[in-house]
Amino acid sequence: MDEITIHDKTFVPYITFEELEHAIKMMANTIYQQYRNETPIFVGVLNGVVMFMSDFLKQYKGSCEISFLQMQSYEGLKSTGKVRNLMDIGMDISNRHVIIMEDIVDTGNTLEALYDLVRKKSAKSVKIATLLYKPEAYKKDLDIDFIGMSIPDKFVVGYGLDYNRLGRNLPDIYQVKTNE
Ligand code: IMP
Ligand code: MG
Repeated sequence: MDEITIHDKTFVPYITFEELEHAIKMMANTIYQQYRNETPIFVGVLNGVVMFMSDFLKQYKGSCEISFLQMQSYEGLKSTGKVRNLMDIGMDISNRHVIIMEDIVDTGNTLEALYDLVRKKSAKSVKIATLLYKPEAYKKDLDIDFIGMSIPDKFVVGYGLDYNRLGRNLPDIYQVKTNE
């Protein structure tokens, strides 16, 4: 794999699809062990979660339902700190076990807003699963229940993640070369 350019930035190969696939399989098995006697609802956070969600669901062996919602906090390489709700969950989740599915947890601003939103809808339980997690950037106390991989606080693209809307279709994950 080679370096790539998106807009004004150079990115270097970082996590291959095979490595992602392996982490996702482990997550699917771990979550299944906890929910095997239930029918949880996996709520994916658009747009970044598309690739992870579809690969995860293919590995999840149990009964489940899915739904999506959309939030936005990022502009360019930085979290703005303000989280906007662009699309709400289109189903009744009251008294249901919900697992919020995120592509990446960075500062945790989005996650906290999501968690509050889902809690208000009277779910029976709410847990959080994220493919990627940046522990050095995380500023919240909320526990993250299921983590695919922890990564350093550097901007990444690919496998659903974008840099100003581009790069989501890359099958592997790339890391920004410089952070200026
Ligand atoms: P947070 O609110 O700071 O935790 O940011 C969470 C959201 O910002 C994620 O769901 C992504 O959409 C986006 N994001 C955070 N870090 C990255 C990154 O390294 N690359 C691309 N998008 C990111
Ligand atoms: Mg996101």
